[in-house]
Amino acid sequence: MTRLRTGPYLLSLLLSITAPSSITAAWSPSELSLLRLQWLGSLPPLPADPSNRVADDPRAAEFGRRLFFDRRLSANGEVACASCHIPGKSFTDGLARSRGVGETKRSAPTLIGAAYAPWYFWDGRSDSLWSQALGPLESPVEHGGNRLQYARLIRNDPVYSDHYETLFGPLPDLSDRQRFPDGASPVGTDAAIAEWRGMAEVDRKAVTRIFVNVGKAVAAYQRKLVPGLARFDRYLEKVFQGDPSGGGLMSTDEVAGLKLFVGKAMCVTCHMGPLFTNHGFHNVGAPDPAMSKPGYRLPIVHLFIEKPEPDMGRYRGVRQSLASEFNCLGEYSDATKNDCSELVFANTRHQDTLGAFKVPTLRNVADTAPYMHVGQFATLGEVLRHYNAPPVAPSGRNELIPLALTDRELNQLEAFLHSLSSPPAVSAEWLQIPDL
Ligand code: HEC
Ligand code: HEC
Repeated sequence: MTRLRTGPYLLSLLLSITAPSSITAAWSPSELSLLRLQWLGSLPPLPADPSNRVADDPRAAEFGRRLFFDRRLSANGEVACASCHIPGKSFTDGLARSRGVGETKRSAPTLIGAAYAPWYFWDGRSDSLWSQALGPLESPVEHGGNRLQYARLIRNDPVYSDHYETLFGPLPDLSDRQRFPDGASPVGTDAAIAEWRGMAEVDRKAVTRIFVNVGKAVAAYQRKLVPGLARFDRYLEKVFQGDPSGGGLMSTDEVAGLKLFVGKAMCVTCHMGPLFTNHGFHNVGAPDPAMSKPGYRLPIVHLFIEKPEPDMGRYRGVRQSLASEFNCLGEYSDATKNDCSELVFANTRHQDTLGAFKVPTLRNVADTAPYMHVGQFATLGEVLRHYNAPPVAPSGRNELIPLALTDRELNQLEAFLHSLSSPPAVSAEWLQIPDL
């Protein structure tokens, strides 16, 4: 008994004396099994998307790539998806609130690995990558255009109409301005909506179908953007092969930060799995900019000023996804009801959804400042100080518990987060503007 115990003890004592501490990290079996879950090697192949029949068609990905970078898909000819999801910035834009035709209310998340998610947007108001894309295209502050404008572009551009018809069949003739009035749109001004309602239902659906197919092609492109191996993954590869130093690929501080991440800082409860997200929605009580507007905390002024509404996050998002004509169960989806269990069984409970936001991936996080859904924190240091002493949530209940980590430990966690960067695992042409 004693021998069994002292053997490993002496060995580790010996190791700690002989090996420089910068390269030894004794991982316990339970830590190792957690690490294996975080390793990119554990990422399964991209699951199929039955709601998008062209999701894995390479021709759709190529068409989608062109659309992703095309500024003609906007009200002013200046905004493309790539304006806010810049390939060189891990498909973010460095802004707290992204800017298109106007200013949005939220911060642009990375698109690397996004195709794995069951829900899109910070509040998960879309249940597919293709339906997500339709949002910014018609948002007055993002692309600012409308579906009829985009349908006309596809129809009139010979390259696009070719791509489109190969994938989706013949395009309808949209040249009759009586049937298809230029300003008609289901979103926007009252006049635009009235014109849209004045169109025949069959014409409205024909236009909407083209719009949806644009989303499906753009989604096929985004499915290409899977993450590549980061330094963290290469380190783990070595550790799993039996080299406790992990090839020296991570510094002592980074290794200590990783230990905290999977250990006493409890980050893995939510940032779990090879994409560093459990794909759920959680309330971590990030400050709500709407609630810190002057006047909010002064009850007297309060009576006279319009009361700001806190962002309810997932509470509203899940309801929007259930009501959307573009969800998995809708007529524009290629799925059967059996494919839509995620939507059918979505958690709508007030306790679980109020003030909850999508758990973002932490891959490439060092390159995607500012942080949280409105870029509330400029640096990773600020994020970590928030986690260390979580405040009362602006809405719902903050799920975090205080960590009481020392400054040194916070620095180690931050150092670790810098080991998660890597370009997506695709050839360079997918990250560039194609010749239009
Ligand atoms: C004006 C800037 C802007 C433009 C243009 C834009 N986006 Fe975004 N994107 C954002 C912002 C901001 C969010 C988060 C919005 C929210 O959650 O409410 C977002 C969210 C997303 C998400 C959700 C990611 C996730 O993990 O939930 C995807 C996917 C996405 N955009 C793809 C696209 C595509 C495709 C286009 C072009 C059709 C596009 N975006 C155009 C700013 C933009
Ligand atoms: C209870 C679940 C939960 C835990 C535990 C948790 N996170 Fe998060 N994390 C989230 C959610 C949800 C967000 C997005 C919140 C928002 O936008 O309001 C987030 C956002 C972040 C961001 C910002 C990423 C971005 O792209 O904006 C970082 C960095 C981060 N978390 C790191 C950590 C670290 C490090 C730990 C451990 C100390 C941790 N998280 C623990 C759920 C969690």
